[in-house]
Amino acid sequence: MLASVLSTNFRAGIYLLSGRAPVGHAGGMTQDLRIVELDVDDPTAVEAAFTVGNEAILADLPDLPPNCRAEHEVRVRLPMPGAERHIFLAWRGDEPVGLVQADLPVYDNLGKSFLDILVLKEHRRQGVGRALYRHAVDFGLARGRTSVMGFSVITDLGGAPIGSSAPFAAATGLENKLIDVRRRLDLSTADDAELDRLLAGSWPKAAGYSTVQWGNRPPEELLEDLALLDSSFLDEAPKGDLDFEAEKVDVDRLRRTYETRAHYGARAYETGVIHDASGRLVAWSALRVAKSVDWHAWQLVTLVDPAHRGHRLGMISKVVNLRTMRAQEPAVRIVDTFNAEVNTHMIAINEAMGFRAMDRWANWQASVA
Ligand SMILES: CC(C)(COP(=O)(O)OP(=O)(O)OC[C@H]1O[C@@H](n2cnc3c(N)ncnc32)[C@H](O)[C@@H]1OP(=O)(O)O)[C@@H](O)C(=O)NCCC(=O)NCCS
Repeated sequence: MLASVLSTNFRAGIYLLSGRAPVGHAGGMTQDLRIVELDVDDPTAVEAAFTVGNEAILADLPDLPPNCRAEHEVRVRLPMPGAERHIFLAWRGDEPVGLVQADLPVYDNLGKSFLDILVLKEHRRQGVGRALYRHAVDFGLARGRTSVMGFSVITDLGGAPIGSSAPFAAATGLENKLIDVRRRLDLSTADDAELDRLLAGSWPKAAGYSTVQWGNRPPEELLEDLALLDSSFLDEAPKGDLDFEAEKVDVDRLRRTYETRAHYGARAYETGVIHDASGRLVAWSALRVAKSVDWHAWQLVTLVDPAHRGHRLGMISKVVNLRTMRAQEPAVRIVDTFNAEVNTHMIAINEAMGFRAMDRWANWQASVA
């Protein structure tokens, strides 16, 4: 769920069915555990993956939006272009008890795999998580993936633990390399007059720039600049101690990414800022609403080309984009976003807009070579 969510938030694949013997934990409770790669032609398994994924997340954070069922159905067959997705379900008899989703990037970060391990609450502390981790690590190692990464909630703002990922990470050797904070904007109490003031105060610093907007299909002539901005995203945002290279995004990958998301039924709201003199796209902000979760939007990337900072383009693109989304999505009440705890500029923009901190998340990484 790396910004995942993230990037953001929130990619799927069709791969071999690899029934394997129980692995990992020597304890008795895992002896009857079967770990099997999701067969996308098996409706029971597809349903199980949806239910386990949703219930395991909402058990720790009930205020998060559920996953979109319609998107899940498409996504297990149609992966996002940037990574192979392998989902392994853990079964005890006929009962699904957990899963691990392993994303193996295919354009960059070829030595990494991103793992999301989810165990149903009533089956925790019985070795399922450890067995899934071991399975995914071995699977990745056989494909040259010597570093694993993950993203999960760790504490509330006061430092009280949420969920069990911190002790689980300690047990499996994952280290917290960067802290993210989730912030939430409640649109039912958002201060529209303040948003007006923010925009009015920003435009005077942005003479010579203008906005452009699109949904699931960006204008063809902007794709090259958009790919450049997208490629730089993970180099520009703080990475802490994470060992991770910026994603390689070209026009072809970007086009396929938008097409794929459109197949998921998600609705995109995106605002770019053009530097009028050069005609180049220099800033970009994106919101996404899932097909079947109409009350919630994810605020994804907001990025300004370093050569054009200091003109309030981050604020302008974000506020203008929010306005457009609200006009077209009257049911959206909540917007969630993630920022690195040290990303002071972006956090200042978010706080000014009314986003408020909710909880702290860890970006995990371990070398498994
Ligand atoms: C984190 C999670 C996957 C652990 O699954 P699990 O099946 O309970 O994990 P295991 O039983 O294999 O635990 C392995 C070890 O982790 C540690 N651990 C896990 N949960 C713990 C807890 N609540 N308290 C203390 N230690 C814990 C223990 O050392 C445990 O070994 P032990 O039981 O022999 O002492 C599960 O809690 C979950 O689904 N959480 C929500 C999603 C998430 O945070 N995923 C992790 C990020 S990728």
